Amino acid sequence: MHKRTLIQTAVAAALLAAGGLALAQDNTFKIGLILPMTGQQATTGRQIEAAARLYMAQNGDTVAGKKIQLIVKDDTSLPDVTRRLAQELVVNDKVNVLAGFGITPSAMATAPIATQSKTPQVVMAAATSAITEASPYIVRTSFTLPQVSVALADWAPKNGIKKVVTLVTDYGPGIDAEKFFASRLQFNGGQVTEALRVPLRNPDFAPFLQKVRDAKPDALFVFVPSGAGAAVMKQFLERGMDKAGIKLIATGDVTDDDQLNDMGDGALGVVTSHHYSAAHPSATNKKFVEAFTKANKNLRPNFMAVGGYDGMRVIYEALKKTGGKGDGDALLAAMKGQIFESPRGPVFIDAQTRDIVQNVYLRKVEKKDAQLYNVEFDVIKDVKDPGKTK
Ligand code: PHB
Repeated sequence: MHKRTLIQTAVAAALLAAGGLALAQDNTFKIGLILPMTGQQATTGRQIEAAARLYMAQNGDTVAGKKIQLIVKDDTSLPDVTRRLAQELVVNDKVNVLAGFGITPSAMATAPIATQSKTPQVVMAAATSAITEASPYIVRTSFTLPQVSVALADWAPKNGIKKVVTLVTDYGPGIDAEKFFASRLQFNGGQVTEALRVPLRNPDFAPFLQKVRDAKPDALFVFVPSGAGAAVMKQFLERGMDKAGIKLIATGDVTDDDQLNDMGDGALGVVTSHHYSAAHPSATNKKFVEAFTKANKNLRPNFMAVGGYDGMRVIYEALKKTGGKGDGDALLAAMKGQIFESPRGPVFIDAQTRDIVQNVYLRKVEKKDAQLYNVEFDVIKDVKDPGKTK
């Protein structure tokens, strides 16, 4: 056997053993929360950790007789680091659940570990459609890019937008957004005239925006991951694209609540589609936003925070339902089919796909109480991920 195969076999054996031993060791229930706490995706880590801690503060740290222990690890959003941390958490710490995953490559790198060790993997952030198909132990509480992009491609042609250039980050979620937006727009009689992709690491939007200016489409459709939206907005405005008559439309990742308020009045009127806005007008959300802001020095929760908060809910309820047993397969079964009222609205964990079914909202950036918000003006209810192949 090659050395690498030997190591892989040894790791697989250790993972399987660890998975079997995780239960009933002591009275703790361990959640390994792997997040980008530093680096380009650090805002995602900060938001999700804060939300998970808020959930625990509000719901207690003892569930079905088990003391919940949250172990937070920083993967700096490098998938090799995510994989190593996930392995250590399963083998050494004997965690009952793996959770977090700020970007798609991190979620994908962990999938084989979840499968081999039979550990539920709760994806709270990453949003490429195919993630849930990478392991039967994956459950998602974030969203998918096809889920939110299609709504905007339905809205655009009804609002005078027929010719669109797309600009996405060049990896899983961006390619999903580009593909599903374009095919739906075409179905609706519109057209994507050019599809531009920017790299994930250190993107420079300037040369791409210049190309868009020259092409003069009715609108530019953008997806960039949470944390990169402010840079796109700034350069879009600096280049006077709006004054040249090019509208900016985007997934809500761009007008991210974590950054929106610092984007300035140039962001006013930008239309996006997404599953969560801090301005969502429900009593559940008002309570959530108030508690989150209070606990985090006025930080406004964004869609990542909600993915983390709801992910904790899914884990807590599964533990309750299984009477504190903590066995991976039992927990997974108890995660499937959960229906509840999230700060984003009603949600459902589809038992078949283990993916989240939720409302998608059309929103416009408006000023409320001297602050910028994504104000919802339309809703498409109970949207399943349109990207699933089965
Ligand atoms: C992802 O990598 O899947 C991802 C990250 C940030 C987003 C959306 C998707 O805002």
